[in-house]
Amino acid sequence: KSDERLVLKEINKLAAQFFYTALRKNNRGLEYLENREIQNDTIVEFGLGYSPKDSRELYRYLKSKGYSDEILLKSGLFSGDEKNGAYCKFWNRIMFPIMDGNNRVIGFGGRVMGSGEPKYLNSPETPIFDKSRNLYGLNFARKARAPYFLLCEGYLDVISLHQNGFPMAVASLGTAFTSGQASLIRRYVQEIYLTYDSDEAGTKAALRALPILKEAGISAKIIRMEPYKDPDELLKKAGREEFEKRIKEARNGFLFSLEVLERDYDLNSPEEKTMFFKEVATRLSKFEEDIERNNYIEAVARSYHVAYEDLKKLVAKTAISLG
Ligand code: CTP
Ligand code: MN
Ligand code: MN
Ligand code: MN
Ligand code: MN
Repeated sequence: KSDERLVLKEINKLAAQFFYTALRKNNRGLEYLENREIQNDTIVEFGLGYSPKDSRELYRYLKSKGYSDEILLKSGLFSGDEKNGAYCKFWNRIMFPIMDGNNRVIGFGGRVMGSGEPKYLNSPETPIFDKSRNLYGLNFARKARAPYFLLCEGYLDVISLHQNGFPMAVASLGTAFTSGQASLIRRYVQEIYLTYDSDEAGTKAALRALPILKEAGISAKIIRMEPYKDPDELLKKAGREEFEKRIKEARNGFLFSLEVLERDYDLNSPEEKTMFFKEVATRLSKFEEDIERNNYIEAVARSYHVAYEDLKKLVAKTAISLG
């Protein structure tokens, strides 16, 4: 079994080199990356590639190296059946090799050039690719010597951030953030800045990641992204200084979750405002440490302009009624 894993790593490495060489010969691919403002150095550093339109090319190449159909199928690079044979799933896509912390290629993400569905295809789980225990960009972020990581959504966010002087960026791999990924992060840093997309999906994903990070002992802050949709767009349109500024202004995770909650209430209506504060009190009452709870009561009272004593009483009452 450990032999098999070694062979799968070899295959992934050869495939990454194959895609990289193919990109060098593909003007459309190079043009796409140029339009996304990805520099040549970045293409080299991240080993970006292109999977040729001829979906059998990679298969022929790897067969010429002597690999069996069985192991090639296990690599997750191919689809196919007895009759038609194997073809590369990622044909005609820009290829993002996914590396583990030690720079070994363990899988791929592939993006269509321009519009088209699905926008991304990713390698399936294989004996060497466990999505819940890897992060895109970790091989760079762990060497960045920053006291924190930036946690974002996508390949191009990590790449853009890296290119703009933020090599501490990582992304979960097209799946929800997991506790396995949180423990992986905790090996290197105790602090995270969440920089997910500003859309509904990104907001929800951030809210789901917060308790997972807390559980792993990582303190998390949220970077405000609006009016941009993601870090890649922010960097392009507003520049790295703006991102730097937003890191400094990052919001506490709990206060962020209240801002999201607030959207469901009309705070101009006394009735709804009361309901909002009851829900806030319920959430505040869940902080077990007195000091922590009081600090949050204070922070909430300040930012929502309510009397600290009133809020404190409401929290105490809520705590009793919740038992
Ligand atoms: N993703 C995926 N499958 C999809 C769409 C997205 O796996 N069909 C994952 C990819 O890892 C992608 C990340 O989610 O990098 C973010 O997706 P999205 O925000 O939709 O990408 P955009 O930022 O809109 O597109 P681009 O990567 O071109 O900037
Ligand atoms: Mn670099
Ligand atoms: Mn998104
Ligand atoms: Mn995005
Ligand atoms: Mn994007």
